Amino acid sequence: MRMRAAVLEEFGRPLVVQELDLAEPSAGEALVRLVACGVCHTDMYTASGVDPSGYEPTVLGHEGAGVVEAVGEGVSSLAVGDHVVTLFSPQCRECVHCVSPNTNICLAIRDEQGKGHLPDGTTRLSRGGEPIRHFMGTSTFAEYTVMPQIALAKVSPEAPLDRACLFACGLSTGLGAAMFTAKVEPGSTVVVFGAGMVGLGAVADARLQRAERIVCVDLSDERLQMARHQGATDTLNGGVCGEGVVQQILDMTGGFGADYTIEATGLVSVMRQAVESARMGWGLATMCGVAGKGETLDIVPRLLITGRRVAGSSFGGVKGRDQVPLLVQRYLDGDIDVDAFLSHRIALDAVNRGFELMEAQDGIRSVIDLG
Ligand SMILES: NC(=O)c1ccc[n+]([C@@H]2O[C@H](COP(=O)([O-])OP(=O)(O)OC[C@H]3O[C@@H](n4cnc5c(N)ncnc54)[C@H](O)[C@@H]3O)[C@@H](O)[C@H]2O)c1
Ligand SMILES: [Zn+2]
Ligand SMILES: [Zn+2]
Repeated sequence: MRMRAAVLEEFGRPLVVQELDLAEPSAGEALVRLVACGVCHTDMYTASGVDPSGYEPTVLGHEGAGVVEAVGEGVSSLAVGDHVVTLFSPQCRECVHCVSPNTNICLAIRDEQGKGHLPDGTTRLSRGGEPIRHFMGTSTFAEYTVMPQIALAKVSPEAPLDRACLFACGLSTGLGAAMFTAKVEPGSTVVVFGAGMVGLGAVADARLQRAERIVCVDLSDERLQMARHQGATDTLNGGVCGEGVVQQILDMTGGFGADYTIEATGLVSVMRQAVESARMGWGLATMCGVAGKGETLDIVPRLLITGRRVAGSSFGGVKGRDQVPLLVQRYLDGDIDVDAFLSHRIALDAVNRGFELMEAQDGIRSVIDLG
């Protein structure tokens, strides 16, 4: 079939919306008619050419949601008409990682996905007979996509897809970091660094976990206001208190630091603050941010010997097919205000505008209307 998609033709250049060919789903795959897709930092990062593993031409996009239109041979977990959220982090339910409760990092298709291929080593995308590689196994800046069933989470048909798509990356990452990686306990103190999509998700989940005190740190007072709306009990403007932010957190916590700190900025200097403001004895610092190539995190080892722990969280530790539907259900139950994150709705033709808005920190998420 023919369909429209936003193609990264050349690093550092605007995406070009055009018609491409999309082949039918092969065994184990499904054709999804995309309805909405969020614009995330990783798309912009790859488009800029800074990502060392990036390639072009490719169709960007990984925060997609849509409806299954057709399934290939042997697809048992999805049927035509199902509403789905795309998963750049799949869940095969069979590999050694999937059967372990300790990680959500599925090993089934990592190598081929990283090369821009579907699991059988080929692509469904092409242009004039020339194959075009998929991006993050998703390529959702498009009217349609073909993806393996292990990378599609079936969600409630009651969830509007322009909200559900946010669970494909940023929102689930933040919620999951608090729920599954940190496992925030009731009555605890949580500090979240960064009030973008990921940080606000972490604040919202800290509230759901019934943390007693939730401190959010950001540079923007407007975003800190949003953090309060999502459940932060205290806010700190890291620009105003600068280097003193760790001391402020220590002062707020009787000199000890927080039970849980969650970093959602991508800055190694802030990751360090997250470690230093975690509590002596058991404080757990969870890193969500993606740092620049070659950057390292500086930690004074004494902080670890005296009981602080450091964890990293990919996609919030969320096992996508099992747990994204549960998170979406919590939204439907009224536990999470997802509407507050949807700042702009744009057409596929305006995809580059989505990047501009993100660069200007205008709103939390722009969502492309594909339906
Ligand atoms: N681990 C994963 O699977 C995963 C998934 C999605 C995103 N990410 C990463 O998470 C990070 C956050 O993503 P996002 O979409 O929320 O980004 P965002 O840019 O919307 O939010 C980052 C926030 O950090 C704030 N910030 C900047 N400097 C700060 C400082 N010194 N102190 C406190 N706050 C500061 C900014 O004001 C901004 O509000 C990024 O690095 C992104 O690449 C990781
Ligand atoms: Zn993302
Ligand atoms: Zn697996």
